[in-house]
Amino acid sequence: MKDILLELENRREQARLGGGQRRIDAQHAKGKLTARERIDLLLDEGSFEEFDMFKAHRCTDFDMQQDRPYGDGVITGWGTINGRQVYVFSQDFTVFGGSLSETHAEKICKIMDMAIQNGAPVIGINDSGGARIQEGVASLAGYADVFQRNIMASGVIPQISLIMGPCAGGAVYSPAMTDFIFMVRDSSYMFVTGPDVVKTVTNEVVTAEELGGASTHTKKSSVADAAFENDVEALIEVRRLVDYLPLNNQAKPPVRPFFDDPARLEMSLDSLIPDNPNTPYDMKELILKVGDEGDFYEIQADFARNIITGFIRLEGRTVGVVANQPMVLAGCLDIDSSRKAARFVRFCDAFEIPILTFVDVPGFLPGTGQEYGGIIKHGAKLLFAFGEATVPKVTVITRKAYGGAYDVMSSKHLRGDFNYAWPTAEVAVMGAKGAVEILYRSELGDADKIAARTRDYEDRFANPFVAAERGFIDEVIMPHSTRKRICRAFASLRNKKLTNPWKKHDNIPL
Ligand code: HXC
Repeated sequence: MKDILLELENRREQARLGGGQRRIDAQHAKGKLTARERIDLLLDEGSFEEFDMFKAHRCTDFDMQQDRPYGDGVITGWGTINGRQVYVFSQDFTVFGGSLSETHAEKICKIMDMAIQNGAPVIGINDSGGARIQEGVASLAGYADVFQRNIMASGVIPQISLIMGPCAGGAVYSPAMTDFIFMVRDSSYMFVTGPDVVKTVTNEVVTAEELGGASTHTKKSSVADAAFENDVEALIEVRRLVDYLPLNNQAKPPVRPFFDDPARLEMSLDSLIPDNPNTPYDMKELILKVGDEGDFYEIQADFARNIITGFIRLEGRTVGVVANQPMVLAGCLDIDSSRKAARFVRFCDAFEIPILTFVDVPGFLPGTGQEYGGIIKHGAKLLFAFGEATVPKVTVITRKAYGGAYDVMSSKHLRGDFNYAWPTAEVAVMGAKGAVEILYRSELGDADKIAARTRDYEDRFANPFVAAERGFIDEVIMPHSTRKRICRAFASLRNKKLTNPWKKHDNIPL
């Protein structure tokens, strides 16, 4: 009996070694953790339950039967993050470069099926040379099996991807279909074709880092949601994110203990808006001063910075925040910001996370660049996303809410539940200068007349009261009482029930 137990321990030891000490050392030398070390850091201590530790590939081409390491290059199972269940797979670069074989894919599919069935998030740690070359089409089929599950899981359970090494070719499409992608600076990259193919086809000379590194994907392409310095930081931040999320689309987000008075008044907000309407201010200050304990988990912080997206908690409950940022492009809506915010709003709505919107928007960014790029369709994404969302929606207009952008930014007309405005709000078709130039073109030569017209326009429209008279603004509130008012608003909406008409699915302007 003792021998049998020892045999199991020996086999486990062999499995834990993956591709062997030499390759583990090489992984460490690149500043990367091993697949198992990553799981250990991601999950609560001692919570990991492994599946298929002894699974091995069945390939016989290229003499592959001579080399059948346990686990086949991916470690799979489930565990907990702060006591809440998650499923995880972690590709082991020390085994055939973490490449995906038929059996490797079967292991991933098994835990994805269980995650969907049992209603818990999937976290995928990607570090792979892509399709297992020796297995040919069997490995491509394996990828497609994973893709299909990504699609089925979308909107059912949160899916999070960590890119911690290479992720190239069609392999990028599994992370691309997950809800959040996080990368590690200088050790991870994602691209459809690598630098060599790029050189052959387009004659461009580009490094892997420039083509698909963390900076490229967080700042230029928006494929990734954040980049971190190293594996440890990335794993800790994913733990933090999971704390904000529900386990599935039927569950409520977790309620965390909070030590911040929901009725806290923040007098400094009364002077947040500068006297000059064209002077920017930092919208993040408002977000930080309103959320519990000043905690904010920002999503896509480095992309389309004219709009801010992320999670805060109010009375311990997760709230998704969308806010125009006057510090960047005056907070206008453009293609990138509309896409960024629309995807975020849809994530929140899919997972029953209430949405708080802070509005200071002078309109859509004009110009041929935007029109040729399809701002009409991209702007419509955000409009569509806010309009279809059935979660509790609370909106606060702090300053400008001009034109179509006023409608888009979770207005009353898009089924906003509480639409508040600060006394500094200006709800109008456009700013005074633009309006007067159009309405009184013939008087443009007379500076005094134009000044009088501008004053008149400002008196009539540069305030929240015209909208409030019509009920488009539910209440004009003091800036200092914003936290108190929105906490009460969301508390009153906890039992909100709103459903859209039955449809197979919508046809959001992609
Ligand atoms: C089998 C692979 C492999 C692969 C790497 N290895 N990629 N084995 N299939 N795809 C093995 C290597 O033979 C090596 O084995 C070990 O993994 C580490 O690889 P190295 O090259 O030594 O590591 P490094 O120098 O860090 O380079 C990593 C790499 C490179 C950039 C990923 O290995 C590489 O270019 N691999 C091929 C990538 C590729 O073209 N994949 C197919 C993409 S197309 P030993 O025994 O020496 O340790 C694709 C299609 C998906 O994925 C389609 C989905 C629909």
